[in-house]
Amino acid sequence: MLYSKVIPERCIACGLCQLKAPELFDYDHEGVAFFKPDNNAGQTPIENPHDLIAFKAAYTACPTRAIVRQEEPFSS
Ligand code: F3S
Repeated sequence: MLYSKVIPERCIACGLCQLKAPELFDYDHEGVAFFKPDNNAGQTPIENPHDLIAFKAAYTACPTRAIVRQEEPFSS
């Protein structure tokens, strides 16, 4: 399983992740991105193939590596 979240301190609000994966990433009122499926908790796996492709594009595009990924749910 693949889990993701955004490290808000690293996000420069560039907008690429939402462009590449609008179902997975959204922005707060300051333009800082968060992982949309679970409000950035990092507990909801990205499962369907379409989402996985979009995720990969967003993950690769992020200029500051604010999007993190791992195979286990994030602990916080
Ligand atoms: Fe922020 Fe990276 Fe998205 S800088 S807006 S998390 S592409």
